[in-house]
Amino acid sequence: MSESRQPQASTNVVWHHATVTRARREQLNGHRGAIIWFTGLSGAGKSTLAHAVEEKLHQMGCRTFVLDGDNVRHGLCGDLGFSAKDREENIRRVGEVAKLFLEAGVIVLTAFISPYKADRERVRGMVERGGFMEIFCDSPIEVCEARDVKGLYQKARAGQIAEFTGISSPYETPVNPELTLDTGKLDLDTSVQYVIEAMLQRRMITGH
Ligand code: ADX
Repeated sequence: MSESRQPQASTNVVWHHATVTRARREQLNGHRGAIIWFTGLSGAGKSTLAHAVEEKLHQMGCRTFVLDGDNVRHGLCGDLGFSAKDREENIRRVGEVAKLFLEAGVIVLTAFISPYKADRERVRGMVERGGFMEIFCDSPIEVCEARDVKGLYQKARAGQIAEFTGISSPYETPVNPELTLDTGKLDLDTSVQYVIEAMLQRRMITGH
């Protein structure tokens, strides 16, 4: 990957410790904070699945939040494009925000292409074991392209969008994700069920 940005430009800053700790927040919430990281091509169904899982978790009484690529790029990451360097910075920021949600005791679901393995692994490394789950939305590009919900594949093929993931920009397939779902084939309810089961198995949530 490209070289990282300046790691620490802020100096003379001292960490302030809260009295309301993550553990106390989690106790109040009745579950631990966690990051559920959905990765996959544009149109693979990451956002749809993240929101459907959130709906289910909310009904189960969990505190949740979805961070979604298209939305975050309207605000926090509105200054970033789609070069390798900008995508790296996008995922770095999202990772930091997700970590804050984790500290708040929230189950945060992220839906970003996050095409680079190193960027995903960096976020994984920020979280204690068991607090991070990578879910590969493994829909083949042919299916994503045939759906082309936003009409972006057509534009990318026509050369109107540069560096489009899967066409003119790489997607590095996850090597060892906690869960792989063929979101090109599976219906939404089944995918949601698989995610919830995986979370139960890892004791990220309890059944009641
Ligand atoms: S990431 O690669 O940095 O993780 P992110 O998930 O934030 O990408 O944004 C992807 C969304 O931006 C896609 O779903 C699509 O709607 C839009 N988009 C616009 N241009 C591109 C591009 N060149 N490559 C991929 N997605 C793009």
